Amino acid sequence: MTLSRRRFLCGAGSLIGSYALADVLHAASARTMPMRMAMPTLAPPKVPLVNPATLARFVDPLPVPPIARPSGQRTHPAYPGRSLPYYRMEMRAFSARVHRDVPPTPMWGYDGRSPGPTFETVRGEPLLIEWVNALPTKHFLPIDYNIHGAERTKPAVRTVTHVHGARVPAGSDGWPEDWFAPGHSALLHYPGVQDAASLWYHDHAMGITRLNIYAGLFGAFNVRDADEQSLGLPSGDCDLPLILCDRLIAQDGQLYYPVSDDPSAPWVPECRGNSVLCNGKLYPYFDVEPRRYRLRLINVANTRFFDLSLSQGHVFQQIGSDQGLLAAPLQRLRIELYPAERADVVVDFTGMAGQTVHLHQQSEAILEFRVRDRGRPDPSVLPATLRPVPRIDPATAVRHRVLTVGEQDDASGNPMMMTLDGRMWSDPVTEKPKQNTIETWNFVNITGDAHPIHLHLVRFQIIDRRPFDLFAWNASRVVKYIGPAQLPPPHEAGWKDTVRADPGMVTRIAMRFEGEPGRYVWHCHYLEHEDNEMMRPYQLLPA
Ligand code: C2O
Ligand code: CU
Ligand code: CU
Repeated sequence: MTLSRRRFLCGAGSLIGSYALADVLHAASARTMPMRMAMPTLAPPKVPLVNPATLARFVDPLPVPPIARPSGQRTHPAYPGRSLPYYRMEMRAFSARVHRDVPPTPMWGYDGRSPGPTFETVRGEPLLIEWVNALPTKHFLPIDYNIHGAERTKPAVRTVTHVHGARVPAGSDGWPEDWFAPGHSALLHYPGVQDAASLWYHDHAMGITRLNIYAGLFGAFNVRDADEQSLGLPSGDCDLPLILCDRLIAQDGQLYYPVSDDPSAPWVPECRGNSVLCNGKLYPYFDVEPRRYRLRLINVANTRFFDLSLSQGHVFQQIGSDQGLLAAPLQRLRIELYPAERADVVVDFTGMAGQTVHLHQQSEAILEFRVRDRGRPDPSVLPATLRPVPRIDPATAVRHRVLTVGEQDDASGNPMMMTLDGRMWSDPVTEKPKQNTIETWNFVNITGDAHPIHLHLVRFQIIDRRPFDLFAWNASRVVKYIGPAQLPPPHEAGWKDTVRADPGMVTRIAMRFEGEPGRYVWHCHYLEHEDNEMMRPYQLLPA
């Protein structure tokens, strides 16, 4: 890794038009901490981009991804004497229109669509999925060969699928270096040993995850269980994923991924698009009936966070977060989701026949709900309580790890890459929790930005966030708190697998390391960071 090759500018530099500048300004104002600009010199796109402001609104129906269907039953050595549903899921190149008035966009997707089909799984019912790489051998997005794991010696197109939030054995978790090239596949097994939750699956190939996900390799993965089923929440066609991402699209329909102005090192530290896709469409409409709907909001964007609201003060009833149901529904006007975070919400259109409601990202309407009565009664309910979420007592932890969320500067002091605990991916494993023990991990964010930190395998709880003295930390690596601890708000008090580590704060989480021993990973879910060293292995040791 050469440390001097990345050049950054302080300030917005030569950004690609106004969308990026607006984003930078928004990001700077969204958090109260002083923000250190870590912007590379972005090259201006060589092709004209779609300006979404010029497009007709709400002319395409919202796609609802089909449910994945097993292609048969198979046995597996991990489940002696049982026959399990077997799914074969091909990753393929395809083209799809993101909008009526934009030419078709070449993409990559599971089963040749993006989002891919939705997996419907049930607690206690294991399944097998063979992930098949049927992609072309050439990548269509800009690989940075300097990045660890993306060297020219590797096949350009590599994939490995991870089910985000799943408790699965290490060998089925999608270890980033277990990628396979076109013409190859991996048969993974999913034991189904976890509570109902809205998970999602996506590519995780070392050094090119940001490009593969940007290309379209993601989909929803629902886990259901009898407890949730007994609540009577909206179901069937009134229960659907709403998968959100942002993209830049060239006027000829091609996806545009931003690059630095150094053609030999195209990596950029963040990627924000001007077009927000809902289930793969730009400004779709969705015909709903005057009844309750359950929407599983999933942020699959590379770097963007979503700040969602409904028009005319309509509210979301949030019923779940990353790892399933909250203790009780929460009435919310706004829902903020960082990359990889989820929120399950119930939206009630009862009594609104003939009206329209908009879903807003910040001030922009991105999706139109059109309420039409089709005379179906609504049997669903929204119970006052959902499930108990017993708090993990941090005092029961056997270990408290202090881990920096930091950046590495080049010789002239410009930030060049982001790291965890000051280590690189290939450094020896330092986090080795013991199976079934409780630990707290304390993320000391010494950068100017929030980073969404994700641990594979486990569900955790946020203990608190607390401001600390950065100068004291830099001088002697001690945490000196300079303000009171902030407890997580109710919507963050359920089970999580991704947490926003705010700048200038120590973000504390607690978890019990349930699952099978083996190698897993934890990382920042800003995909540009994850690909460029902000990812670390951890080893779960047997009890
Ligand atoms: Cu969304 Cu390592 O995962
Ligand atoms: Cu994950
Ligand atoms: Cu990050």
